[in-house]
Amino acid sequence: MRSFPTSSIRLLLITVATTVILSTPALAQTPVPVCCMATAISDGSYLYIQGGFTSVATLRTAVPQFFALDLLVETWSTSTPPWTWPPNVGGVTPPASNGHSMALSNDRGNLFIWDPFQPAAWWTYNIGARYWSSYSIPRNVTKQSGIRNGVDMNTGNVFIPGGADNGTQMIMNSPGSSEVPLTPMPTTLLPTPVVQASFVWSTYRNSFLHYGGQSIAGNIANPNLIEFIPTTGWQALATTGPSPGDVSAYSGTKMIVFGGAGLNGVTNADIHILDLPTREWTLGMSANATQARRNMACATSGDSFVAWGGESTLAIKDVTPIVYDMRNNQWTSQFRRNTTLPMPAEPSTPISTKVESRQY
Ligand SMILES: *[C@@H]1O[C@H](CO)[C@@H](O)[C@H](O)[C@H]1NC(C)=O
Ligand SMILES: *[C@@H]1O[C@H](CO)[C@@H](O)[C@H](O)[C@H]1NC(C)=O
Ligand SMILES: *[C@@H]1O[C@H](CO)[C@@H](O)[C@H](O)[C@H]1NC(C)=O
Ligand SMILES: *[C@@H]1O[C@H](CO)[C@@H](O)[C@H](O)[C@H]1NC(C)=O
Repeated sequence: MRSFPTSSIRLLLITVATTVILSTPALAQTPVPVCCMATAISDGSYLYIQGGFTSVATLRTAVPQFFALDLLVETWSTSTPPWTWPPNVGGVTPPASNGHSMALSNDRGNLFIWDPFQPAAWWTYNIGARYWSSYSIPRNVTKQSGIRNGVDMNTGNVFIPGGADNGTQMIMNSPGSSEVPLTPMPTTLLPTPVVQASFVWSTYRNSFLHYGGQSIAGNIANPNLIEFIPTTGWQALATTGPSPGDVSAYSGTKMIVFGGAGLNGVTNADIHILDLPTREWTLGMSANATQARRNMACATSGDSFVAWGGESTLAIKDVTPIVYDMRNNQWTSQFRRNTTLPMPAEPSTPISTKVESRQY
């Protein structure tokens, strides 16, 4: 099994890491189910999840948990997902939070969290050094749930649309620089500032797709699919077909929109796929209505789409991920990265046992 990548970390960090491992036994843990978490995908290898709301009796409580789903495991059953727990060797971990967002750096070495309700809105997890750090941003940060961040995978620049001045300005940062220039959000394409939109990088289009969400004022659904091309700016993206959490797949040539909720608050279980070369939407097979959800974590890996957590109209979803086979258009209890290869023999030991023995 793979473990988290290590880089040339200093001896001090290794020493601290050993202490952490000894003081907290590396047992397999099942995450607490949450909605409204920060999530990021590392190129079909890990789905990272931080924070979110869980429910304790009738109360909602934010949690500080940080874990990942290992998407490179070729096959697994949804009853034994390959969870992994990236360690922290001494930095201050992000606090319990929700309604924040996370993105992966273009060198795949860091995760960036945008959490506007914290005094330091920017958090970085160095994946190789296993270390958290945080920064305050000298801007009038928009204190709203559902402000997204995203990384231009060509340049590494981080963008936070609506991140400043009550949703009207986009924050940019080149990691390593202390500059955080602002540019106005495109009011002709997006008349009113929105939150809870999707903001995903498409390698195929070399742009960010910005879709859905709702206005800060008046809770009005955003029907616009627009894109932000870092070199030229914002533009509309015209599509055809029946348009409807929400990630790109097959190297950014497809965008998947699963679930979500209408403004009546009723959650959906349908799945829509936008093919970017043809810009055509197709409707996939809906999940069982009991799986309708919003504010979940989603990822794609090979032929599979995975959704985890989130909430239905009232309740936090359970801890079992759901998996859609995009090639064969069906929901399945078996994750398979590559459905064109023969089904591998049953693993002799359950995957969860292997995860248990994983050490960092
Ligand atoms: C920050 O933005 C809010 C909302 O637009 C505004 O009310 C407030 O005056 C701004 N604060 C500063 C320091 O600019
Ligand atoms: C933020 O902007 C919305 C309109 O998008 C407005 O209704 C709201 O009052 C503003 N909030 C603040 C703190 O200025
Ligand atoms: C939907 O899920 C419920 C509860 O798990 C189950 O009883 C029902 O058979 C499922 N329906 C379909 C069409 O799979
Ligand atoms: C599945 O495997 C086949 C044969 O090795 C390969 O050509 C194809 O690209 C793979 N598909 C995915 C989605 O990895």
